[in-house]
Amino acid sequence: MDGSTRFYARYYGGLLRRSGFSLAKGLALPLVRAEAVRSGAHAMAYPISTYAPWQSDSEFRRVYGKVRANTLVDIWRCHELWSLLAEVCEIPGAVVEVGVWRGGSGALMAARMAGLGLGDPVYLCDTWEGVVKTGPDDIYYHDGEHADTSKAIVQALVARMGLANVQLLQGVFPEETAAQVTADALRLVHVDVDVYQSAKDVIEWAWPRLSSGGVAVFDDYGFPACPGVTRFVEEQRRMPDRLVLHNLNGHGIVIKR
Ligand SMILES: C[S@@+](CC[C@H](N)C(=O)[O-])C[C@H]1O[C@@H](n2cnc3c(N)ncnc32)[C@H](O)[C@@H]1O
Repeated sequence: MDGSTRFYARYYGGLLRRSGFSLAKGLALPLVRAEAVRSGAHAMAYPISTYAPWQSDSEFRRVYGKVRANTLVDIWRCHELWSLLAEVCEIPGAVVEVGVWRGGSGALMAARMAGLGLGDPVYLCDTWEGVVKTGPDDIYYHDGEHADTSKAIVQALVARMGLANVQLLQGVFPEETAAQVTADALRLVHVDVDVYQSAKDVIEWAWPRLSSGGVAVFDDYGFPACPGVTRFVEEQRRMPDRLVLHNLNGHGIVIKR
């Protein structure tokens, strides 16, 4: 096994362990990826850049160590959320994450906000009963996916990390819980909902509340199993009020002009 094969074996192994290993999922991941590549719209991309700030940022590594068992989000995307929060520290507003699962990426962001001395709340919103609103674009997903969690698991993580700035909102967002977001403005929205319609509904609610210069980060962008999210990010290109960035790590980053 060469270095990169070993790396991907470890990476997918960890992902499967965290998401509840199943043979079906284990076999499906590489197949879905191969099918996406065959379609011509996807390719395995290996950036030649080697800059890796997540390796030397000791505070990030300390906090990431506390959340990594509770997240499906890899270290590269976690570090991006971490660094973006510093980038938007002058922008007013709260943080909203829709798609929390076991709380890892949300707790990381809450720890970062506190570490930066920013007192705004971090709203972590999930059904804790799995994905909703799967539609024709979301061919690899069904409603109820990622239900292997609970609000109590996230509460326990938040308590272990001593985070006082977190509010947990349970229900379908935005319909059932957005009214509980009492902050006047938002600085960052993390959309990690896996499917087209949820991503669209979240952003239609959040965009008017996002401060100018604020950021919406779409997880799963470009992932072979999440074509609905990729489609929704692409639909936002050339809209006059936003700048859309394609990051090879699986983040679509949309900045409000
Ligand atoms: C991939 S997981 C989130 C991963 C998480 N950010 C982490 O750190 O591992 C997706 C989550 O989105 C939630 N979800 C999807 N659509 C939703 C919606 N419209 N409202 C609330 N939760 C939603 C699901 O219940 C699931 O827990």
